[in-house]
Amino acid sequence: MKRPPRPNAYRDHWSGELGPDDEGSEVRVAGWVHRRRDHGNLVFVDLRDRSGLVQLVFHPETAPAAHAAAHELRSEHVVSARGRVVRRSPETVNPGLPTGAVEIAVEDLSPLAGALTPPFPLDEDGPVDETLRLRYRYLDLRRESMRQAMELRHTLIAAMRSHLGDRDFLEIETPILTRSTPEGARDFLVPARMSPGTFFALPQSPQLFKQLLMIAGYERYFQIARCFRDEDLRADRQLEFTQLDIELSFVDEDDVIDLVEGLMTHVFAVGDFTVPPAPWPRLGYDEAMLRFGSDRPDTRFGLEISDVGDAVRGSRFQVFERVLAGGGVVRAFNAGRLELSRAELDGLSAIVQRYGAKAVAPIYLADGGWRSNLEKFFDPDQIAAVNLALDAGDGDLLLFVADRAEVAAQALGALRLELADRYRLIPDGPHHPLWVVDFPMFGYDEAGDRWDPLHHPFTAPSPPAGETELSFADPGRLRSRGYDLVVDGNELGGGSIRIHTPEVQSQVFAAIGLGPDEAEARFGFLLDALRYGAPPHGGIAFGIDRIAALIAGRDSLREVIAFPKTASGSDPLTGAPAPVDARQLAELSIRTT
Ligand code: AMO
Repeated sequence: MKRPPRPNAYRDHWSGELGPDDEGSEVRVAGWVHRRRDHGNLVFVDLRDRSGLVQLVFHPETAPAAHAAAHELRSEHVVSARGRVVRRSPETVNPGLPTGAVEIAVEDLSPLAGALTPPFPLDEDGPVDETLRLRYRYLDLRRESMRQAMELRHTLIAAMRSHLGDRDFLEIETPILTRSTPEGARDFLVPARMSPGTFFALPQSPQLFKQLLMIAGYERYFQIARCFRDEDLRADRQLEFTQLDIELSFVDEDDVIDLVEGLMTHVFAVGDFTVPPAPWPRLGYDEAMLRFGSDRPDTRFGLEISDVGDAVRGSRFQVFERVLAGGGVVRAFNAGRLELSRAELDGLSAIVQRYGAKAVAPIYLADGGWRSNLEKFFDPDQIAAVNLALDAGDGDLLLFVADRAEVAAQALGALRLELADRYRLIPDGPHHPLWVVDFPMFGYDEAGDRWDPLHHPFTAPSPPAGETELSFADPGRLRSRGYDLVVDGNELGGGSIRIHTPEVQSQVFAAIGLGPDEAEARFGFLLDALRYGAPPHGGIAFGIDRIAALIAGRDSLREVIAFPKTASGSDPLTGAPAPVDARQLAELSIRTT
């Protein structure tokens, strides 16, 4: 901690900052009993405050009262102690502790609060059941690894604020009680007592308000914004999470990307997270889906996917032929010299089946040919063409999936990640930031039987490559001006250049099935605002929880959020969500079914 505490009755020094320079000084420290040890006559206590640990020693001869009181101390009792800093003898120096060269010979001990025995040890970082940790989060947060995570998170957010503040961005808050902002998830609704039967929605993001701020002339905005999305949770998703939300006026893609590369270079440096110097590579969406089977490709390792449909077309293998004839694809990647057992090979199909693919065809290479009962279905030149496309040599394992393009991409993409993880194929070394750009504007939602925006419906569409006219005749051909920042396979942020005319906005609403009346009813305020002179504008939002988890090297967002929800969306500490009084419901004019 940078400044010494203001001296008061509890403390005049931080525990974790005492050292040989303080030898001989009289100090007072306060904190929690981290550990207590009785050594014959002497009692030792490691005292913990936010700055760290220092050893207290209690001598029966020189301070009998303090010594007697120290006998009564237990883990997590709260105390204040005054004494003299003494150097430890060379053989008792603890090199593992920053303050390990000294200890405080306590003269006066004030017990301030007792403590129940914690339900799990706080002085070590061993595994503890997560529900228990969350139930007692205030104890879990005392543990060193959580303290480090909270400190890192604060440091990263402070770096974001100062970087953007120095560049003329204004931090502006936007409402939490608002109307639905469509980001593709379900809304959390809040009943409005004063207008029975109506509801606020909690924001899925500040998207529309930041656009309104651009229309209002604020030019450069940011916010550390809480967002709420009622969606199924995964390790990288929470019901409420925090965005660094940014918007700028009179900009194009390069302006936003350039700003963000500067910002994130700074944030990564502050977090000691090594990335190559910007500019970072930009990968088209189609290429990312083809080569990596993902719109958030992890490019730290190879196993790149190739389309081998043309190489195998016309074979006697009916599975491939049927898929190709039906407009599907045959794709594969070279897993390298991975020796898998029969059972392991069979297990690979289970992985791709989660993505709707039927199976994986695994083929080993030996003497230039395929050591597989599938070999007989292919001509030698087909085999040679595939081997060439996959850069395959003897001993390599080739993995094929034949299916619809989206299914094959996703299935092989997942398989690639699984193998990299399982067989530790990801090298140590610099991290891999990259931009995914040139997204399709819409994807077809088979279940809903309609077009859905890949980003959100406020993203500016652009014509297909080589064309200049924006035509909505076939929405599936439109591209978008969106961009995502991906690092090591994590989508850290996404944004776009926005629509800034009411005409194009109305066309996008129409394309996703919002008729003019419904569009006016739901988004009339935006369409109106666009009619009052909207500057060209664009922006981006980052998941701060994801950035902190990535930099801290934690696999779950819960490890970098002080009070997160469990995977099932509840809070074991407060018991939320919880039933409410019948009276409260009546006040809200709500009846449950
Ligand atoms: P998007 O929906 O891509 O864009 O969200 C931006 C970033 O927010 C993070 N994120 C999440 N983090 C934790 N839990 C979640 N449930 C969750 N959902 C998203 C991700 C993601 O990249 N308004 C647009 C941004 C824009 O266009 O400017 C938006 O919210 O890191």
